[in-house]
This record gives sequence, C-alpha cells and structure tokens, in this order.
Amino acid sequence: MYEILLRQDLVPDIHLFKVAAPDVAKKAQAGQFVVIRVDEKGERIPLTIADWDREEGSITIVFMEVGTTTHRLALLKAGDSIADFIGPLGLPTHIEKFGTVVCVAGGFAVATIMPIARAMRAAGNRVISIMGARNKDLIFWEDELRSVSDRLIVTTDDGSYARKGLVTEPLKELLEGLEKIDWVIAIGPSIMMKFCAKTTQPFGVKTIVSLNPIMVDGTGMCGCCRVSVGGVTRFACVDGPDFDAHQVDWDLLLARQRTYLNEEKRSFEQWQCQGGNCSR
Ligand SMILES: Cc1cc2nc3c(=O)[nH]c(=O)nc-3n(C[C@H](O)[C@H](O)[C@H](O)COP(=O)(O)OP(=O)(O)OC[C@H]3O[C@@H](n4cnc5c(N)ncnc54)[C@H](O)[C@@H]3O)c2cc1C
Ligand code: FES
Repeated sequence: MYEILLRQDLVPDIHLFKVAAPDVAKKAQAGQFVVIRVDEKGERIPLTIADWDREEGSITIVFMEVGTTTHRLALLKAGDSIADFIGPLGLPTHIEKFGTVVCVAGGFAVATIMPIARAMRAAGNRVISIMGARNKDLIFWEDELRSVSDRLIVTTDDGSYARKGLVTEPLKELLEGLEKIDWVIAIGPSIMMKFCAKTTQPFGVKTIVSLNPIMVDGTGMCGCCRVSVGGVTRFACVDGPDFDAHQVDWDLLLARQRTYLNEEKRSFEQWQCQGGNCSR
C-alpha cells in the first residue's frame, strides 16, 4: 500500500497527492508516469509524475476528476493509502540544450510540464511557457511555472484572467516573432495538442507531445495504447508517451479515446447510485 502524505485541492476538480513510493522516486524522470489502482477492485489508470523527492521517497501526482476512478481517488485524504502505484513507466522526455524551448500546457498538464520546463532550463535552454485554462477558477501553479521559466504567458478561454484566447494564439505569435524558437513541447487535452501541432507545422519547428491514449498495463503487453506515428504503430506506454507531434495520426487517437464512452458513462452512473446520489 502507498500512503498519501499530502493532499492539496489546487482548484475544485484538480487535486495534488504526494505519495510515499520510494522505489518509484528513486528512478523518476521528467515525462514519465505511474499506473495506479485505488484499491484491489479498482481499474488501472495512468497519471503523470508531476514531481519527486528522492530523499523523502515521495512522488507527486496531480489529477483531474473526470470519471469513476478519478472521483474515487479524490475521496482519499492524507493518511489513506493507494493499493497499487507502479512506475516510473514510459520513456523520459528528451532533454538537451536546444536553444529556446516553448513549453505549452493546458488544464492539469500545468503540473506535468513543470519538471520538463525545469529540466530544460537546467540544461541551458531559454524556456518560454504558455499555460491555458478555460477560466480563472481553473488556474493553478502560475507562480510555480513562472519560477522555472524565463517568460510565462497565461491565457483563459473566456478572458476571465490574463490574456483571452487559446494557447495556440501566443504560440503562433512567438513563432512569427523575431526570436528563433528551436523546440516546442505541448501537453494537455488531445485536441489542444493537435492544434499546437497544426500551429507549429508550417514553421518547421520540432514539436513534441505527450500522448494520452487509454492504457491498461502500461508495460507494452495489452496493446490498448497503440497509436499511429509516422504511419507506424507504436505503443505509447513503452515507445512514448512523447512523440513527434507532426507525425501523430490525431484522428485515430481521438477516435480510440472515445471507444468506451458508453461504458465509462454507465460506470460513473452506477458508482453515483452506490453512493446514494442516483439521478434516475
Ligand atoms: C500517460 C498518461 C498520463 C496521464 N496523466 C494524467 C495526469 O497527470 N493527470 C490527469 O488528471 N490525467 C492524466 N491522464 C488521463 C487519466 O489517465 C484519465 O483521466 C483517467 O484514466 C480517467 O479515468 P476515470 O475512470 O476517472 O474516467 P473515465 O470516465 O473512465 O474516462 C474518462 C476519459 O479518460 C480517458 N481514460 C479512461 N480510462 C483511461 C485509461 N485507463 N488510460 C488513459 N486514459 C483513460 C478516456 O479518454 C475517457 O474518455 C493521463 C493519461 C495517460 C495515458
Ligand atoms: S498500455 Fe498496454 S501496451 Fe501500452
């Protein structure tokens, strides 16, 4: 069992857990993930490693409540335990001195891009970060991301805070500007990453995305996480999750993510009923 050492509610539906997992913390690197199970009857879900403390032996995860498992996870508090916490999984993000790197994050991914921005800066890059959220109430870790960036641009879809618009707008302006952009990393909802890829493609700037297909075992055995990159089938859990954004078959990824929508909806309704919140 893996004890939750700290819980923070970053915004109403996004939570941070610091979890005691010394073996994972020993080896964790930016861009890797864990597969967790809330209890022995739970399903396995992947969550990105947002931070680690090798001395303390802890891993930080940040997750958004979207369905049954993430809602169940959100019921836990500091002192409770998670049954399984397997990792670090996936290949670490490729870090080297590229020059000027733009890190783009949407939603909960502000937390997951943090170790990447930090590592890119430590490697000698100038780091420009762009973080976007639907509205002001969903903004978190602005100061934290600023602290690991040379420049930070914040956007909200509805203009309730900072700049109004989508993250792709400042990204396009940076690419059109005088400063040479050498590398872009975009993490967030698939649709956001797809449009970041479309924004950078005409400029020929290498763009990396962290793909989030449905994963089960996370070790390359079930085939659930297959994606098509450059016309070749890859398993995101062992060949990724980072891939060249301009080579990803986005339509296939988006379609495969929707495969179990009915089952996910039914599972969530069933779980709500069990909790006494049945709407039917
Ligand atoms: C490598 C990777 C890293 C991720 N990191 C984070 C993170 O740091 N924070 C975070 O909030 N979310 C992260 N996700 C997404 C997270 O795994 C899903 O939100 C979660 O599995 C939803 O489960 P649920 O039961 O709450 O919702 P459900 O209602 O079951 O599903 C909601 C949606 O989540 C996706 N999903 C469902 N099951 C899985 C699964 N087993 N694997 C992947 N996606 C699934 C599907 O698109 C689905 O439509 C990551 C996904 C991947 C692949
Ligand atoms: S999650 Fe099973 S092969 Fe990748």
